[in-house]
Amino acid sequence: MEKDLLVLLNEKRVFNPPKKLAENSNVMKWMKKKKIKSYEELLEKGKNIEWFWGEAAKEIVKWKKPYKKVLEWKDHYAKWFVDAKYNIVFDALDKHKNKKKIAFIWEGEPKGEIKKISYKELNVQVNKLANAMKKLGIKKGDRIGIYLPMIPELPTAMLACAKLGAIHSVVFSGFSALAFRERINDEEAKLVITCDSFYRKGKTIPLKKFTDEALMEAPTVKNAIIVKRTGEEIPWNPKRDLWYHEITKKALSNCKTELMDSNDPLFILYTSGTTGKPKGIIHAHGGYAVGTGITLKWVFDLKDKDVWWCAADAGWITGHSYIVYAPLILGVTSVIYEGSPDFPKPDRWWEIIDRHKVSVLYTSPTAIRMFMHFGEEWIEKHSLKSLRLLGSVGEPINPEAWIWYYEMIGKGKCPIMDTWWQTETGNHCITPLPITPLKPGSATKPFPGIQADVFDSKGKPIVNAGGELVLLHPWPAMLRGIYKNPEKYQKTYWETYPETYLAGDVARIDQDGYFWIQGRDSDVLKVAGHRIGNSEIESALVSHPLVAEAAAIGKPDEIKGEKIAVYVILKKGAEISEELRKELAEHVTKEIGKLAKPSEVWFVSDLPKTRSGKIMRRVIKAKVLGKDTGNISTLSNPEAVEELLQAK
Ligand code: PRX
Repeated sequence: MEKDLLVLLNEKRVFNPPKKLAENSNVMKWMKKKKIKSYEELLEKGKNIEWFWGEAAKEIVKWKKPYKKVLEWKDHYAKWFVDAKYNIVFDALDKHKNKKKIAFIWEGEPKGEIKKISYKELNVQVNKLANAMKKLGIKKGDRIGIYLPMIPELPTAMLACAKLGAIHSVVFSGFSALAFRERINDEEAKLVITCDSFYRKGKTIPLKKFTDEALMEAPTVKNAIIVKRTGEEIPWNPKRDLWYHEITKKALSNCKTELMDSNDPLFILYTSGTTGKPKGIIHAHGGYAVGTGITLKWVFDLKDKDVWWCAADAGWITGHSYIVYAPLILGVTSVIYEGSPDFPKPDRWWEIIDRHKVSVLYTSPTAIRMFMHFGEEWIEKHSLKSLRLLGSVGEPINPEAWIWYYEMIGKGKCPIMDTWWQTETGNHCITPLPITPLKPGSATKPFPGIQADVFDSKGKPIVNAGGELVLLHPWPAMLRGIYKNPEKYQKTYWETYPETYLAGDVARIDQDGYFWIQGRDSDVLKVAGHRIGNSEIESALVSHPLVAEAAAIGKPDEIKGEKIAVYVILKKGAEISEELRKELAEHVTKEIGKLAKPSEVWFVSDLPKTRSGKIMRRVIKAKVLGKDTGNISTLSNPEAVEELLQAK
């Protein structure tokens, strides 16, 4: 048995949430209203799925026209809150438009740069940008590529698109120009929104330069709106480029919010899958608002006085759901930080928490392990007494990191919400609530209204053994397809087991019904919580003129969870050298972005393959990690397995 699994199997500690916190929690208040007496009873009630989500909707949204039916389910496509008229902006912004309450407390990376933006100001900014975009001909259904760092204009741009009924597609600012180009071409974007440059670890990153490179071959893009972030000199195309501050200055601060169908698309977000091409995951207005809103309200228990910090990047689903939409729907104050956690020193985060009295912090296991590595002296300088709840997301959290987070950051009084979910699910699916007894390393149980299980290869539920994590019933914030790729949608999620959503993760359910997520199955890597397809890295490598074939695998990494190791066969005549090793790592960075940069580049003369020519990553991984490779006699070239140990 694998060591990690053994550790998890032996993890028997249970941490009960503080009584007062549980008693005063939002979920407990709702339970009292509904005369539900226990957590178990709540989960039981949640099995009445359409009832539950109908009730959840009442807590979160105000439809412009009510729905006729909670759910319509056909060929694996869901319509939730059928025929309701809605726009997520009604709840995220319009209803707060006169409030002086702070929506975002923003800190730039350079010290001392702090902006506080009220709901009222945010509303004005969004309306001005929406009007300016309208002038450029943007209308309902158009796709807009947003390539921005963590500055207030990022949520503003997303909301302005949603207001007009246009579909935003945010590309993480750490992705390369080529990755941005691939995405805006796939969705045929009409407009892009970016900035001059931004700060990261004390340096500036030239995003406009990357954008220009992306737009060299992006025929559908007519205009680029540029936010002035650093004021650095940038190249300018007068036929295409417009300054954000100039076009918004002239625009009116009042723009009608487009009335949409509850099931109209809100955004596309690309994520890695099993092929080299990223998948455009589509989310819709109504169900997504209900799902993200109720999970944030119950899991992180946000109240009017809380200061919430979801320390993710809004370029990922975590930021879409829990920096932008759900916190605004709930009307809370959120922190946004532009820069690196260790700039200028490794205690920047703890300083931010004390400065703004953050009460709920949501981050990733990679960040937690990084802080463990920096050392406790950086934490001890700060009080952190404003914290009352903590969260973790993106990858499995090992019990050691969990306990450290609980004790060092939460001072033993803040329950940790280890939330399992995905770009596709839109909201937390397997997660504790502030009333759930916690086991370190387990994401505990499904949220009410979500039905999850673990199946063996025949589709039978199994307990206390690893299997495929599945969701058994549609849920409101679920994906509504893959953009322009219905076949892939069916094949990836719905064809393995009938009428069952395949998450692509391996998990185990223990005797108490607690879920222990063990990680992705073999075709997707999780590096520092970022999802990267093995085949994306491989296609980047084979696009290099000297590479014939390549395999990318994940190796365990103490901080990042996984690091990328690539095994490369060079073309005839190419010579192995240290320069080439560096060049290949840089090549992947250029094609995809820094997050995909291989930590190890190995040269080999052959790679193990099946008879049909498929490279066996699983076998490579087992061999190089010194594990059992299983039966390799059916491979077309079993001798390649031993040769891996001679890789240069
Ligand atoms: O493997 C699971 C892991 O992250 C995957 C989804 O990645 P992405 O779509 O990028 O979204 C990340 C943020 C929601 C999942 O399939 N994952 C996410 N949360 C957890 C997790 N693995 C273990 N525990 C979690 N809490």
